[in-house]
Amino acid sequence: MRFAIVGAGAIGTVHARLLSSLDAELVAVVDTDLERAQQLADQYGARAGADMDSVYSDVDAVSICLPSALHADAAIEALYAGKHVLVEKPVDITLAAADRLIAAQQETGRTVSVISQRRFQEPVTRIKQAVDAGTLGRITSGIVESAFYRPQSYYDGDGWRGTLAIDGGGALMNQGIHALDLLVWMLGRPISVSAQTGQLAHENIEVEDVAAATITFESGAIGLLLASTAAYPGRPVRLSIHGDRGTAVMDDDRLTVLTGTDELGEQSPTSVAHLAQYRDFIAAAQEGRPPAVTLADGRRSLATVLAVYESARAGRPVELKEA
Ligand SMILES: NC(=O)c1ccc[n+]([C@@H]2O[C@H](COP(=O)([O-])OP(=O)(O)OC[C@H]3O[C@@H](n4cnc5c(N)ncnc54)[C@H](O)[C@@H]3O)[C@@H](O)[C@H]2O)c1
Repeated sequence: MRFAIVGAGAIGTVHARLLSSLDAELVAVVDTDLERAQQLADQYGARAGADMDSVYSDVDAVSICLPSALHADAAIEALYAGKHVLVEKPVDITLAAADRLIAAQQETGRTVSVISQRRFQEPVTRIKQAVDAGTLGRITSGIVESAFYRPQSYYDGDGWRGTLAIDGGGALMNQGIHALDLLVWMLGRPISVSAQTGQLAHENIEVEDVAAATITFESGAIGLLLASTAAYPGRPVRLSIHGDRGTAVMDDDRLTVLTGTDELGEQSPTSVAHLAQYRDFIAAAQEGRPPAVTLADGRRSLATVLAVYESARAGRPVELKEA
């Protein structure tokens, strides 16, 4: 499958490397910073361009690696040009944008997946299997901790980070959404959120660097979430799922507890998981089946992030309704 990458920044560079180890070809790199596009393209023998039209006539799929608020528009443009689309997280920063993208996907019938590579991480897939198989019994609660650290220079470096208009949020919208997406994947449909956010360890940003929430799910299960970019020196995502017959925990990117088994396995890097999501996307596009992570999944996690912000702002619980 022939790919174009749109956005040759930090994650676009990762996507190019992932593609080089797959049965896929990177044929074009697009970035408004043409020099950046050219540099990345040259490494992989691809073409470079400053806009999508100029370079991607012969590609089958487009990977959107742009700043978050630009995701839906770029994805919609690619869909109407007949391409399959893999879009980085978050799907976009508003539900209106996510819904426009969902409508475009439905109209074009092309494959769209939202990156949530941690769903493919080995300890996570084992926990999900245990949840689905009923091994843990009735799921009663889940806790995710995304206790990261980003220095002030992270926000100062690029114009869009830490802005409401383009990042759309901070520690939760940008980093913690990975962990939140796991909680929602395990526990099901969130129905209400009670949250607090703070800006404690960074300046000149418009967004939170700490967010905490309790989330009630349709099943009755209760989830706890912490997302931070102010937790020095930062730790890998920790996920605990509790049921009335068992518990499962991922810590330090390894399965550390799974009731009923002593085979907990090795550390599992997220780069391997990102590759696994690419494989799923390519297979889904070729087979005409839905990808493992759909736009509806991306929308649900985004809706939960936005409910956290609304609850923190309003100082009261917020109910979630699905489209
Ligand atoms: N899945 C993950 O683990 C992961 C990790 C990092 C970033 N991301 C996501 O990837 C996205 C990009 O993040 P990043 O860190 O690579 O950002 P970045 O700032 O490093 O790169 C963004 C690139 O987009 C280019 N760009 C901006 N506007 C453009 C436009 N209109 N057309 C073409 N190019 C344009 C910029 O010149 C820049 O090269 C974000 O949404 C972020 O949330 C995901």
